[in-house]
Amino acid sequence: MKNYRVALLPGDGIGTEVLQAAWPVLQAVADKQGFGLAGDWLPWSCDYYLEQGVMMPADGVEQLRAFDAIYLGAVGLPATVPDHISLRELLLAIRQGLDLSVNERPHRLLAGVTGPLRTEKTFDILCIRENTEGEYSGAGGRVHRGGDLEVAVETSIFTRAGVERVLRYGFEQARLRSGKLASVTKSNAQRHSMVFWDEMTDRVAADYPDVEVTRYHVDAIAARMITHPETLDVVVASNLFGDILSDIGAAIQGGLGFAASANINPVSGGPGMFEPVHGSAPDIMGKGLANPLATLWAGALMLQHMGETAGAAALMTAIETVTGAGAGTPDMGGSLSTAELAQAVQNAL
Ligand code: NAI
Ligand code: MG
Repeated sequence: MKNYRVALLPGDGIGTEVLQAAWPVLQAVADKQGFGLAGDWLPWSCDYYLEQGVMMPADGVEQLRAFDAIYLGAVGLPATVPDHISLRELLLAIRQGLDLSVNERPHRLLAGVTGPLRTEKTFDILCIRENTEGEYSGAGGRVHRGGDLEVAVETSIFTRAGVERVLRYGFEQARLRSGKLASVTKSNAQRHSMVFWDEMTDRVAADYPDVEVTRYHVDAIAARMITHPETLDVVVASNLFGDILSDIGAAIQGGLGFAASANINPVSGGPGMFEPVHGSAPDIMGKGLANPLATLWAGALMLQHMGETAGAAALMTAIETVTGAGAGTPDMGGSLSTAELAQAVQNAL
């Protein structure tokens, strides 16, 4: 029997509520599929920061390396700890420390869910975003602060290794899906980094003659995700472009209650981090209103990446059995609480 150990990081606000609701469902999947799934709850959060003065212990990233995966709720309580501390010192520290260079988000409508688009066509998009460099590298600075000559420079960094690993991951996924890959740039206007991205796309594409590549400019594909989402499958983009496009993806799939993400290291492996896209939602915390489906979907991504594909599929089927029957939390127009919706999914397994 295979045994997995997962680091459970509930974090703050509804992060705690959705993770506590989702974890027993994952354990039920493990029981049914015949693999072992043990979890260690780690208290790293804004509350931890208020007690200890740090978001996580100095060896936090090293501790996480010992696990098969990290399952995260959400981090942030802006009323007590500034977001630039909670985000930088926990989430970004983990993503960078474990070199989680790919951020992957599936966007499709679950059974029974109506999105905001007026289209009968179904869509199934996998957004793959570069997660460690590009426009968010942090290279730059400010000169003549406060003066008339003040200047701010923010430099994008695109490395051969960084672009190649995210593209290669995209091509592998395209191969497993419909064989179509969209490469996103703005190479008409950004003639250094984005032309380089196009060249890297051609270079990697040579190893995947079975994958059909289409190049899109980011503005055009943003519009296409709304007007013709059914024409897209795997979408690979830089850090900034992928960030924006995956928020469009979350919107067209019905909102933050559904959007799930995987942060993975496709080069040297190690634990990935699986999380809902949403934050800690202080406006609804403590009321049982949070939709746990994004977290459950992230749990399915975690099982899939650990190699438990049958378990991942069983969990998605159970989720869609419940959504297909019209059950949901208030954001879905339903009346179930966080715990009740998760329990309904567990019953459907
Ligand atoms: P948010 O995603 O927490 O909430 C935005 C809106 O969506 C709120 O009205 C909230 O009630 C609603 N919402 C979010 N998730 C929901 C769910 N599962 N079910 C029902 N409604 C849901 O974003 P916001 O308010 O901008 O940020 C709050 C805190 O979360 C901040 O501290 C922020 O830094 C942090 N944050 C953390 C993230 C993470 O841990 N990955 C991601 C985004 C924000
Ligand atoms: Mg975003």
